[in-house]
Amino acid sequence: MSGKTFYIETFGCQMNVHDSEKVVGTLLAKGYAQVDTPEAAELVLYNTCSIRDKAEQKVFSRLQQFKRDAGKGKIFGVLGCVAQQEGEKIFDRAPHVSLVCGSASYTKFGEMLVQIEAGNRRVTGLSLDTEETFDTPFTSRDNPHRAYITIIEGCDKSCAYCVVPFTRGPERSRTSQSVMAEARRLAESGYTEIQLLGQNVNSYRDPSPAGWDFATLLARVAETAGIRRVRYTTSHPRDFVKEIVDAMDSNPVLCDHVHLPVQSGSSRVLASMDRLYTRDQYMRRVEWLKTARRPYALTTDIIVGFPGETEVDFQQTLDLLDEVEYDSLFSFKYSPRPNTAALAMPDAVPEEEKQRRLAILQEKQRAIQIRRNAALIGSVKEVLVEGRNVALDQWIGRTSDNRTLNFTHPAGDSDGLVGQYVPVRVTRSGPNSLVGESAIVV
Ligand code: 5AD
Ligand code: SF4
Repeated sequence: MSGKTFYIETFGCQMNVHDSEKVVGTLLAKGYAQVDTPEAAELVLYNTCSIRDKAEQKVFSRLQQFKRDAGKGKIFGVLGCVAQQEGEKIFDRAPHVSLVCGSASYTKFGEMLVQIEAGNRRVTGLSLDTEETFDTPFTSRDNPHRAYITIIEGCDKSCAYCVVPFTRGPERSRTSQSVMAEARRLAESGYTEIQLLGQNVNSYRDPSPAGWDFATLLARVAETAGIRRVRYTTSHPRDFVKEIVDAMDSNPVLCDHVHLPVQSGSSRVLASMDRLYTRDQYMRRVEWLKTARRPYALTTDIIVGFPGETEVDFQQTLDLLDEVEYDSLFSFKYSPRPNTAALAMPDAVPEEEKQRRLAILQEKQRAIQIRRNAALIGSVKEVLVEGRNVALDQWIGRTSDNRTLNFTHPAGDSDGLVGQYVPVRVTRSGPNSLVGESAIVV
């Protein structure tokens, strides 16, 4: 290959975003230059998501657009969850693809590039049994202030709707020494916020003799000198123990936010999803957070229209929203996925009904968010400044409780504030964000 340029587009969750950072790091180290459009690139990579059918279809529609470029020197690679799920079938469906590589094989990405450069047009990395998932030597981080650290890969749960155990394989935790060393390295190179990642971070179990659980790891990472914020995602309510709340309570570096996906407010549906908790057990976790030493923002994921979900079940989900009052939520229509248990379940909910339930749910949540955000007007919150919106003459900030709080600041239109922590007084609110003015005394 000549000029060695690449383009990468990433779909899906933060795990994928971080995986792409590793892939980009490897490519840069091999002398490739990143370009902004697929047209300008010789190597075009899609890091894919297969959590719902819509996400999966995106990559095939992207590939379709470039079908005519096949054989003109452009090389296409499919990475991530669709790669792992569909494997070599991708070569049949999109014959202009030359590389199919799942997330557990990124440590071998450099070797795969060598094969591609040597002219091999059917290169695969699909094994799930690698032991060295975590340590890719090169990682190119996108954001200069917030860094992701993977602490656990894969998932051992078997939620009836979920493809992840098939695309990311069984659980593997990283040693605490390796996590701590990376946290220290990041702090030394100027990062102030760390986000710990895993499909189910709560089931983290240090494989080294130290044997730390997740709460211990969280507490220790938060003690890293120079680190001002630590977040984590994502949690599974079954493994979310009280010690995690205690650790958060004892150190404000651990951010004021918990994402605790509930999926449904009906214990009957939860059982059929194989979520391993009831509504009451979930509510006990919510109580821990509501009675904690400081307020925590609570967000969740909900699926509507799971097979067999009745109007009564759905009503229980709506009641749960009123009872918990989430600060934000992601809601989805159930999407049947390959290999999963729910595929064989009877009583599918019709598409129009799923759509109807989704709209009702989102409308209810919108009203809750309008109310909750309005209650913050007048308060002062510290934000990490992430950027600047020149058109609105505002700085873009994020609060510890994971709200977007954009603000005006009297001095200057330079980049000066990006990466800094600034106190901001909230003056206006909407359903999804806050606006304020800097409360720095100048
Ligand atoms: N259909 C719809 N939503 C799903 N999710 C996971 N699998 C499916 C599916 N098959 C949702 C869950 C999960 C979030 C990441 O995606 O709510 O928490
Ligand atoms: Fe999508 Fe799940 Fe894969 Fe993340 S782990 S990219 S959400 S399928």
